[in-house]
Amino acid sequence: MRKARAILTVAIPVLVGACAPTIPPVAQAPAPSTDVTAVAEERATPAWARPDAKMDAFIDDLMARMTLDEKIGQLTLLTSDWESTGPTMRDTYKQDIKSGRVGAIFNAYTAKYTTELQRVAVEETRLGIPLLFGYDVIHGHRTIFPISLGEAASWDMQAIEKSARVSAQEASAEGIHWTFSPMVDIARDARWGRISEGAGEDVYLGQKIAAARVHGYQGDDLRATDTVLATAKHFAAYGAAQAGRDYHTVDISERTLRDVYLPPFEAAVDAGVASFMTSFNEYDGVPASGNKYLLTDVLRDKWGFDGFVVTDYTSINEMVPHGYAKNLAQAGEQAINAGVDMDMQGAVYMENLAKSVAEGRVDTATIDRAVRRIVEAKYRLGLFEDPYRYADAEREKATLYKPEFLEAARDVARRSMVLLRNEGDVLPLAAGAKKIALIGPLGDSKPDMIGSWAAGGDRQTRPVTILEGLRARAQSGTTVSYAKGASYDFSAAGSTDGFAEALALAGKSDIIIAVMGEKWDMTGEAASRTSLDLPGNQEALLERLVATGKPVVLVLLSGRPNSVEWASKNVPAILHAWYPGTQGGHAVADVLFGDYNPSGKLPVTFPRTVGQVPIHYDMKHTGRPIELGAPGAKYVSRYLNTPNDPLYRFGYGLSYTDFAYSPVTLGSTSMGPRGSITASATVTNTGKRAGEEVVQLYVQDLVGSVTRPVQQLKGFEKILLQPGESRTVTFELHPEDLAFTRADMTHGWEPGEFRLWIAPSSGAQASTPVSFTLTE
Ligand code: NOJ
Repeated sequence: MRKARAILTVAIPVLVGACAPTIPPVAQAPAPSTDVTAVAEERATPAWARPDAKMDAFIDDLMARMTLDEKIGQLTLLTSDWESTGPTMRDTYKQDIKSGRVGAIFNAYTAKYTTELQRVAVEETRLGIPLLFGYDVIHGHRTIFPISLGEAASWDMQAIEKSARVSAQEASAEGIHWTFSPMVDIARDARWGRISEGAGEDVYLGQKIAAARVHGYQGDDLRATDTVLATAKHFAAYGAAQAGRDYHTVDISERTLRDVYLPPFEAAVDAGVASFMTSFNEYDGVPASGNKYLLTDVLRDKWGFDGFVVTDYTSINEMVPHGYAKNLAQAGEQAINAGVDMDMQGAVYMENLAKSVAEGRVDTATIDRAVRRIVEAKYRLGLFEDPYRYADAEREKATLYKPEFLEAARDVARRSMVLLRNEGDVLPLAAGAKKIALIGPLGDSKPDMIGSWAAGGDRQTRPVTILEGLRARAQSGTTVSYAKGASYDFSAAGSTDGFAEALALAGKSDIIIAVMGEKWDMTGEAASRTSLDLPGNQEALLERLVATGKPVVLVLLSGRPNSVEWASKNVPAILHAWYPGTQGGHAVADVLFGDYNPSGKLPVTFPRTVGQVPIHYDMKHTGRPIELGAPGAKYVSRYLNTPNDPLYRFGYGLSYTDFAYSPVTLGSTSMGPRGSITASATVTNTGKRAGEEVVQLYVQDLVGSVTRPVQQLKGFEKILLQPGESRTVTFELHPEDLAFTRADMTHGWEPGEFRLWIAPSSGAQASTPVSFTLTE
């Protein structure tokens, strides 16, 4: 599928406003398809999936020698006892490996341990088929990068790909072949703790990030020992859990599924992802792990996915409590017949599938197809040539926490931070601020720096706290003193313990930096909240700190949008730093001291209050928009007690410099079905510092056979501008970029009128929208 992309940036290193965009001739787009719902889509075969006759012969021979039990063993993935990432443990994994009943292990790493387990599989089982080692390497393996949502806030695809690349290098050196990442679930409900693990609320940004991560993990060559298989998860619509409660029911329309939740998965397939993981939730009454529509009709038949599908943790078993299967045996049959290849941790296949085959409820051909996919993955990784080729103690020693990896983690972290407010240019810290009071429960907390799903990351000693980072950067003569002051524990609400010490410190300082937010495990799996407020007594302390009259900077550490409305009006400077990773303290210091000019933009909408959730920038129109009524009018779409607007919009983020946008220039005011259109704007750095800006293209389809969102992101480019420098950014749009699921459920575009604008965020129509027509 062709997507809008920036095709040209013309540097104009002279005066503000001096721009004459030159637009190169644009290649004609191929003839558009008007309906791709029913037919298999054409897409390039990833390099790893190319036909390989030698491999086929090898696998034919191997499978001819395998018993049914050995085959089912290849479909079984069990956790080691190193870590618990789910509710149940089967503690017999070592015996299971020995008896050939397990083909893959997760939550085991280090060259030593994976070699030890591999040796059992290779030397002590009848056929010696090597194990596949998987792990949740989500935002770093040992060197931890910012949480995924934070990385998304960088809008920097190179940075995101780099993070995945480094993760693969470290993880593979420890014997891991396969990461359960990227999570590409669109998340529009900040109550849902797993919002921290994805790329945010937007389809287009989500697609780009999905591709960047897959490329980073898998590189160009799966055989290379420093790449790992990636997994697109959780298929599908997991982020739409009702009321933001994890594992809860999903009930969305088929159109929303196709237009919002599926595209990042399809982008992962386009990028050549090697595996998919099913989700825990149901879709339209059918749990994802038994959902033939999702796993076969869409994933295989429509998208042509060549890799293998693993379930999430015991999600086959969970089809029984879902009320979809009457027992585990039936659940296993539903899963394999729907298209699940590998059973994660449930041992349902292991214990039931042979009988289901014997009794004719599962075909041998279905089992064989699943086995072949998994054995193929092992072959393509080179494991049949050398089962130990990844686990390498020497490489492990030389690779983990390499200085260049730590530097990359620091760089990605500072790129991910979003400056939400900076009244009176409180930031960057003035040279005159000699006495800095650092206050708050997250100011000097190593475990919190790396967030949840931090793989093999050391939580206790390696992370650089904000106190350490500021002290390392402060010039001599500047002191940074710390008081915890408040607590993020829910139970601390109402308590003033620690306030006196913090206020005394604040009283002696030139500036206060309050580091507040959520404890690291308040987001991630099984970490939903019904409130988005700062937990504990943090906001009460913040109010007291502001009341001192000293300048206050709030640094937020959190994995979700928090409702910080009071702070947004009363605290002069707010920086969102997510959970910034192993080097997080240095990265925060880089931004606060102005060594790095913040450039992040929000990948999610920040609501004023949890009552506005779900809220996202590409909502639909209402028939009774608030603008139709006088202030306070009844019978319009509004709340009695809260504005409709969010606190901070998707795409929003400030810089220490300012950018001005020119009006948009269109290459043409109409586009034919085989044509394209260009849209350009010139962006100028009107401030005194060099800075990066994420230039965003939004489109609105005015009328459709079904209602259309108020706006949709269709392109972006991050550019660096020196003071006074201007640059023209040109985007190219094709009819395919405007496609959606139409009234008749076909996928395609519709002729009509569109509005388009290029802006610094979804809320700021910095340039007046321009219109164009898509003709028949
Ligand atoms: C459950 C989580 O939902 C999934 O994301 C993760 O990969 C597995 N557990 C394995 O730890």
